[in-house]
Amino acid sequence: MTASSRPAPAVEAPPASVLLYGEGLHKRFGGVQAVRDISLNVPHGSVFAIIGPNGAGKSTLLNLMSGLYQPDRGRMIFDGIHLVGLPAHKRARLGLARTFQKLRLFKQLSVVGNVIAASHIHHQIPPWQYVIHGGAFARDDARCRAEADKLLRFVGLEARASVLAASLAYGEQRMLELARALATSPRLLMLDEPAAGLNAAEVERLLERIRLLRAGGMTIIVVEHNMDLVMKIADRVLVMDYGQQLFEGTPAQVQASPTVIAAYLGA
Ligand SMILES: Nc1ncnc2c1ncn2[C@@H]1O[C@H](COP(=O)(O)OP(=O)(O)O)[C@@H](O)[C@H]1O
Ligand SMILES: [Mg+2]
Repeated sequence: MTASSRPAPAVEAPPASVLLYGEGLHKRFGGVQAVRDISLNVPHGSVFAIIGPNGAGKSTLLNLMSGLYQPDRGRMIFDGIHLVGLPAHKRARLGLARTFQKLRLFKQLSVVGNVIAASHIHHQIPPWQYVIHGGAFARDDARCRAEADKLLRFVGLEARASVLAASLAYGEQRMLELARALATSPRLLMLDEPAAGLNAAEVERLLERIRLLRAGGMTIIVVEHNMDLVMKIADRVLVMDYGQQLFEGTPAQVQASPTVIAAYLGA
């Protein structure tokens, strides 16, 4: 079906159990249709995985959801709020956070400094206090520091708090990227290949952290190549290929799907 022959989207609202709803999402870069007619339902408190070969459009889909890019067409609703047109920083304030496949740390800042910098969207003080460093600044600073220490304990980096981010091992940098995303207190956390480059013990730790976050009520979307991790934590899996949906279902359904096996798992 071509884009122009598609029927107009239904105007009904997604059910209340759905935190993020996407419908008919398209994104083209020049001659590449990176995302083609993707629709998805991410229920509250679930882990939703996106898998597919390199170039399938997974990161682009995350970029559409986080607001780094706007879709050419389609709509997204986050807890009743239409996201299309909203820039990334506004979506962050609504409770969307993400990590990047290519890490975006401040290498010349300390580990704890990186987490504090990420929490700025929730600073509870008037802007002029930053300039004159009033009492509220000191209290806010202490609150951010305590929160950052807690997050560093959560990801296992508490002993590394004061070293430069640049001096961390790769796996540690990935965990710092996770702590930074968590510093914004997200309701929806989007992880782009969080296990890439991690050793087996680090993958186990990541798996455990994701489980804890979900148990705490967080909703998580994870793009991942590590099939073992996906099968262990995902409630639903969207399989993409050439920008399109190849399959959507539970991990067991994905593993049993001849289409998926032929196009991806078997490769
Ligand atoms: N900013 C961009 N500009 C041009 N092409 C892009 C851009 N981002 C992604 N693409 C292209 O879109 C396709 C999907 O890429 P991507 O979403 O990164 O796939 P995946 O994350 O599944 O590996 C690829 O062909 C890629 O080269
Ligand atoms: Mg990618």
